[in-house]
Amino acid sequence: MGILDKHRAIETHATLLMVLSLLVVTIGGIVQIVPLFYLENTIEKVEGMRPYTPLELAGQQVYIREGCYGCHSQMIRPMRDEVERYGHYSLAAESMYDRPFLWGSKRTGPDLARVGGRYSDEWHQDHFENAKSVVPESVMPPYGFLANTVIDGRYIQDVVATHRMTGVPYTDEMVENALADFTAQVDPLGDSSGLEERYGEDAFGTPVNVRNFDGQPETTELDALIAYMQVLGTMVDFSTFTPVANR
Ligand code: HEC
Repeated sequence: MGILDKHRAIETHATLLMVLSLLVVTIGGIVQIVPLFYLENTIEKVEGMRPYTPLELAGQQVYIREGCYGCHSQMIRPMRDEVERYGHYSLAAESMYDRPFLWGSKRTGPDLARVGGRYSDEWHQDHFENAKSVVPESVMPPYGFLANTVIDGRYIQDVVATHRMTGVPYTDEMVENALADFTAQVDPLGDSSGLEERYGEDAFGTPVNVRNFDGQPETTELDALIAYMQVLGTMVDFSTFTPVANR
């Protein structure tokens, strides 16, 4: 009996085929899953990751509300074309403070995981007002209303506290000072030492951008969204990062 005939015996016997398929899938599953139990941590530890500041968090809320993830991903895959276009592939640790994660599954526009610092605030202001003014062929919708939507941070303490409840390591001090930190980040002439101390370079190695992001006197949703854009992908210092496999 040739090998094909043996195979016919399996394929013409529904129960046997099912049992053997299950067996094969089980072995495959074990091979994939069991090694994870022996890894100390499936998230590689990295230097510099810090929880978002209250203003950045407010920007992330706008990003979620407006459904930006429907057109933009935030996950650079370890393929050569992606790494050359967007930079170092994304690490799991880089989204460890995202609630919910915003990896996305569709790219009508480019990946945004490392858009922080790539453009000036003014570029973002123009781009959100009317994307075609800076990228003529763009199909991104206009978001000019964000510049007219004043936010006062009334609920920001609750947002920070809620994130802490879901496991983001905000300290008591960070929660207590949420509104003060929110306000300090858009006021380059004010005192931002508390904000810097809690979130800045000394605490995490990642500086906090303190400036008037939307170029207007009022604090608007555009301030928050640009602050969020400008921090994306800037927290990990890749010059000090060695993948576990190479250590
Ligand atoms: C209908 C799909 C769509 C939606 C929704 C959308 N975008 Fe875009 N976005 C694009 C496209 C296409 C581009 C590339 C052309 C351009 O730069 O405008 C782009 C470009 C960008 C860029 C420049 C990225 C780069 O590396 O050049 C940023 C930043 C951006 N979008 C942010 C946002 C944010 C924030 C939102 C939600 C408020 C949003 N987008 C919603 C389609 C979209």
